[in-house]
Amino acid sequence: MNKQVFIRTYGCQMNERDSEMLAALLRREGFGIAARESEAGVILVNTCSVRAKAEEKALGKLRLLVDERKKGRRPLVVGAVGCMVQRLKDDIFRLVPGLDFALGTARLAAAAGAIRMAASGRGGILELSADGIEPGPGTHFPGRVSAFINILYGCDRRCSYCVVPEVRGPERSIAAREIVAEACELVRGGTKEIILLGQSILSYGRKNDVWAGEKESPGGFKEPFPRLLEALDSIEGLKRLRFMSSHPSGCTDELARAFTELPKVCPHIHLPLQSGSDRILKLMRRGYTFAEYAAAVGRLRAAVPGLALTSDVIVGFPSESEEDFSLTGKVLAEMKLTNAFIFKYSPRPGTRAAGLADDVSESEKMRRNKIILDEQNKICLELNRRLAGRECEVLVEGNSKRNPGRWTGRTATNIITVFEKSARNGACRPGDLIRVKINRAEEQTLYGTPC
Ligand code: 5AD
Ligand code: SF4
Repeated sequence: MNKQVFIRTYGCQMNERDSEMLAALLRREGFGIAARESEAGVILVNTCSVRAKAEEKALGKLRLLVDERKKGRRPLVVGAVGCMVQRLKDDIFRLVPGLDFALGTARLAAAAGAIRMAASGRGGILELSADGIEPGPGTHFPGRVSAFINILYGCDRRCSYCVVPEVRGPERSIAAREIVAEACELVRGGTKEIILLGQSILSYGRKNDVWAGEKESPGGFKEPFPRLLEALDSIEGLKRLRFMSSHPSGCTDELARAFTELPKVCPHIHLPLQSGSDRILKLMRRGYTFAEYAAAVGRLRAAVPGLALTSDVIVGFPSESEEDFSLTGKVLAEMKLTNAFIFKYSPRPGTRAAGLADDVSESEKMRRNKIILDEQNKICLELNRRLAGRECEVLVEGNSKRNPGRWTGRTATNIITVFEKSARNGACRPGDLIRVKINRAEEQTLYGTPC
């Protein structure tokens, strides 16, 4: 059989990381990873369930692939993995007739076996158990400047709109010793930036003792997450540390201290607000009021001048009135976020909010989405323009996609920065930290020249 596998990924960074792990596990089993779909004999779709649209896209793609195969074209094997499989269970075979196999979020390690079975004509395999292994070390794509490490799986928060607890299971943290080993391995392989991932990452180690038997923190950190940042910060050769996503309840004085005392921790926090209305926040079961959110931000900003703050916002949650919505707009303008991701509410079966009437029309959701997006774009532009004339430190990631005559990288505050390759920086390589003078700003991008 053609043992080249192409993996198509939908969804969040956690899914990107899972696909990377899946690729490594398949390589170990003798499969190759195809760069192009057209070269592959096996296509796996790593799915997302966060909004109905994400599911529709994955279902459409799967149906198309199965159809191609029926017509006698490539691919030979089509499998679905990840969040949507976990949610739909065996319904996925009804929605995608002819699908060879489906593996849930914790069963990626079963992919090689499932492909072999399917290739020998035994399809219909469904694996959903939640207690599969989550291997870290040895499962990264080698030589990436920036790499993800998943430090916490699942979520216990149960925000009323969110499907994640159902599809990713209860929260569990990986032992600190394993994470440090994984980080060291990445840095030895050339990685300069590590992005720690977890649904509610500041809860790391609150439920299980991730530091059992380890030495005390040299800096006197008591909370498990700041302590992990401290341990990773000391890895020689690592240049930057980031993490996402955060919840206001974890924005403690120790976290603020970690930002100030640990030089590799970037001054950026992704802290989803979701709504500026306390009434809606309560219906969302977010566990904070806007005042509490603002206090958490204030605590961090007081300690970390220049801290970049990004957020997620949902518009059109059930019963969201014009007044609730305008509160969201108002607080976003006040908070001066460096970036915000705006989503239209999408009811997810099985969640608490699915029991509430989805009473904001699609056109009204679109209108609200556009208003917030336009406002936020203005703020992004205003904040980025303030950087014009200043010098920023940029971690070089690679060639600019639009123009290979330019480098692209990010500032410590996570803003994409593009600058010319020149004789002076000709020896510059992906992974270098270089100083760039900013000449021009767009909403999402800075342009500059190396100093
Ligand atoms: N509808 C719309 N947006 C959602 N999100 C999560 N669940 C839903 C939903 N049902 C958004 C939240 C979250 C981001 C990852 O996706 O803003 O922070
Ligand atoms: Fe990521 Fe959530 Fe989508 Fe799963 S459902 S891929 S955890 S965003």
